[in-house]
Amino acid sequence: MRSSMRILAREHLALRAVARILAMEAALLARDGQADMDLLDTLARYITEYPNRIHHPKEENFLFHYMRLRAPARCADILDRLLSEHNKEHDAVTRFQNALAACRSGQPGATGELAQVAASYAKYLERHMDVENTQAFPLAIEVLQDADWDAIDAAFEANDDPLLGNTPAAPFQALHARIMALGAMPPGV
Ligand SMILES: [Fe+2]
Ligand SMILES: [Fe+2]
Repeated sequence: MRSSMRILAREHLALRAVARILAMEAALLARDGQADMDLLDTLARYITEYPNRIHHPKEENFLFHYMRLRAPARCADILDRLLSEHNKEHDAVTRFQNALAACRSGQPGATGELAQVAASYAKYLERHMDVENTQAFPLAIEVLQDADWDAIDAAFEANDDPLLGNTPAAPFQALHARIMALGAMPPGV
């Protein structure tokens, strides 16, 4: 397997863990009106920093870029869909941050809203990665040439993930430990 695909697979595993913890906290909020707010804060920081600034640009600027160059007609539909989802992510993260802030300040109805927003973000993230894993990445393997993969591998190796790097950035260390501890937990409650 090319190193870039290994990196993407590893990042998707970490994002899946994030999605599952979010779904679990959302279910606790909906059921009990309570959740681990500090963990939700850490998750909010992670999804603000990571998918839009590190993960998606890597896909768009390198993998998707070379796919469009090599097989524009075959790749158009799937890449247009994924790009449109990436573009909506900023708004989804902002909705999550706002719902979290409202909940923190004790606004009426904020708990239910946060549960709903967190659950829907988690669902989106899982679905988005399923489409990449089962449709876009296999298509990349079909259409890309060795020189494309060399360029993609080099670019990916120069990139870093605050959660997965050898020395996770300080704000993410708590989340990293939590994810490792909860890694085997099934989605939801
Ligand atoms: Fe993506
Ligand atoms: Fe992805």
